[in-house]
Amino acid sequence: MTQRLDGRVAVITGAGSGIGLATARRFAAEGAKVVCVDLDAETGAKAANEVGGLFLQADVTDEEAVRDLFQRTVDEYGRLDIAFNNAGISPPDDDSILTTGLDAWKRVQEVNLTSVYLCCKYAIPHMQRQGKGSIINTASFVAVMGAATSQISYSASKGGVLAMSRELGVQFAREGIRVNALCPGPVNTPLLQELFAKDPERAARRLVHIPLGRFAEPEEIAAAVAFLASDDSSFMTANTFLVDGGISGA
Ligand code: NAI
Repeated sequence: MTQRLDGRVAVITGAGSGIGLATARRFAAEGAKVVCVDLDAETGAKAANEVGGLFLQADVTDEEAVRDLFQRTVDEYGRLDIAFNNAGISPPDDDSILTTGLDAWKRVQEVNLTSVYLCCKYAIPHMQRQGKGSIINTASFVAVMGAATSQISYSASKGGVLAMSRELGVQFAREGIRVNALCPGPVNTPLLQELFAKDPERAARRLVHIPLGRFAEPEEIAAAVAFLASDDSSFMTANTFLVDGGISGA
């Protein structure tokens, strides 16, 4: 595989599963040193072990933990080139505006949106010192279009990630820091499987709207993240990068 990330140091949150795990493998295959961050010590350590990287257990909603994880990355590897802020949770059951309780709403905002705010806040100063960096924040296709399935707290959190990424992309462009939002369509990961297990008809309803006629595999999303992380996307920032099987174009 082309070594586009040779010598680069990358932090991936939610690296123990799904899109994060596939991206850890892809980054390592392209030559990066990978710091795998996850709340789950078992899956996170397994991922780091597999890619020959460092595992840091952290809750990305905890400000001190996030500040520490970026500092420890720089202490260990001397730099920070890529931050893939990806950890997230699925919508609560029956996530409609009429039924979602305030606590469930707040929890989704905290894990999906506040975590990205914290990761950008503590990654950017390291990148400013280097005059270069690439940040990829995981939003979702539901940040750019309404979904027939109820997921109001989830969609709102991802809309926030998208808006924040655009703003930061513009704000830090002249300092060599690129910030892009990744918007996957439905991806075959534990997060999606869990959602469909609770509501099997949801899968069929979703599938109908995907022009490519299937869900993505995590490796297909990882390929897009590697592109955004590498210099192959050097003229891209503040971008909404949809990898969605055509769902938003239909
Ligand atoms: P996943 O459930 O397979 O993996 C998420 C990982 O994040 C898990 O390893 C989990 O332990 C970790 N995590 C959760 N909360 C955390 C916290 N507070 N601190 C640290 N780690 C935490 O999920 P998947 O599908 O790989 O999703 C990754 C991202 O992609 C999420 O932000 C999700 O919203 C987004 N996404 C997923 C889509 C899908 O269809 N699977 C579609 C569009 C976006």
